[in-house]
Amino acid sequence: MKKLTDKFGREITYLRLAITDRCNLRCQYCMPAQGIDIVNRNELLTYKEMYRITRVLSDLGVNKVRLTGGEPFVRRDFINFLESLSFNDKLDQINITTNGALIANHISKLEEIGVSTINLSLDTLKSDKFKQITRRDVFVETIQTLDKLLASKLTLKLNVVVQPGVNTDEILDFIEITKNKNLGVRFIEEMPFNGKGLRKTDEVWNLDKIYKEIEKGYQNIIPLKDKKSSTSRNFRIENYLGTFGIIPAFTRTICNDCNRIRITATGMFKNCLFDDGVFNLRDFIRAGASDDELTQLFIDTVHHKPENGFIAEANRKNKSVSESMSTIGG
Ligand code: GTP
Ligand code: 5AD
Ligand code: SF4
Repeated sequence: MKKLTDKFGREITYLRLAITDRCNLRCQYCMPAQGIDIVNRNELLTYKEMYRITRVLSDLGVNKVRLTGGEPFVRRDFINFLESLSFNDKLDQINITTNGALIANHISKLEEIGVSTINLSLDTLKSDKFKQITRRDVFVETIQTLDKLLASKLTLKLNVVVQPGVNTDEILDFIEITKNKNLGVRFIEEMPFNGKGLRKTDEVWNLDKIYKEIEKGYQNIIPLKDKKSSTSRNFRIENYLGTFGIIPAFTRTICNDCNRIRITATGMFKNCLFDDGVFNLRDFIRAGASDDELTQLFIDTVHHKPENGFIAEANRKNKSVSESMSTIGG
């Protein structure tokens, strides 16, 4: 079988596919209050194009797909698309990253389809702060989704973007959720992908600082053996049911084992979160590319995957890393 391997010997098995650039929230760390310039609908990949891209990639060894956005559930017929993807038996895992506000009524359908893991973005446990961060008033809906996910058989991870001056006082509260609940809470270093560039703050909350904050509250932190290519360094508090992790998204100490590629909602192929896109698949497909041509394109493009996120950033044509995460797909 042909495989996707880069020149550092890393095998690509994980596709992050953005369903849309649109979102129902306006998180401060992701976009400005007025939102971002969304593209015309005909510039988005169609579901048929996404299905085809995924099929070609799965023939090349991709066995895990994460559907992101924007918010994937704002795109019409997303659930039908999920269902069709589930018929691809080369995919071991179909996962979704979502803000959860729209999906409380869809959880049993997601179980039925066979979705494996939901990564739910939740940065605070306080209703008023939720409104301040997301600029929308849907805390109740999001918590309802959280409760339903906990009661379901889906694996659940909470994504907490650590925002200095905003939610660092809640880190220990998030850890306490893992006491009796079977979920993974993951703290993410904030990145500059918000439409304007890195937020100015007095303190830098990187992996070390987040870990030290947790150490202030707990003596009995047990390191876990991370899965190869895990984005997070993972731990458990002794005798707690759930786990917690820290994602060094900005300090980028996870690149050595990277197994990921990304495709944005407009079909831009990205070898790294920090590159500015290497190939527009949508235009290639709409110009009539065959499966063989797509296959060769993927093999050649992945071969040039940059060694790490710093090199990817240095190689950008557009030097500033400030596009919204909603455009990139996370
Ligand atoms: P799992 O498959 O559950 O491990 O999820 P994930 O961590 O790959 O995906 P998720 O969408 O939950 O992303 C969590 C955070 O990790 C987001 O802020 C992502 O931008 C960040 N992240 C994911 N992949 C990479 C990566 O390759 N490099 C960097 N620097 N950050 C990443
Ligand atoms: N820095 C770090 N993480 C971010 N996310 C969105 N924007 C940023 C940012 N600027 C997170 C979301 C979601 C995941 C895909 O990325 O909270 O959980
Ligand atoms: Fe929407 Fe996610 Fe961006 Fe928040 S981080 S505005 S939920 S795309």
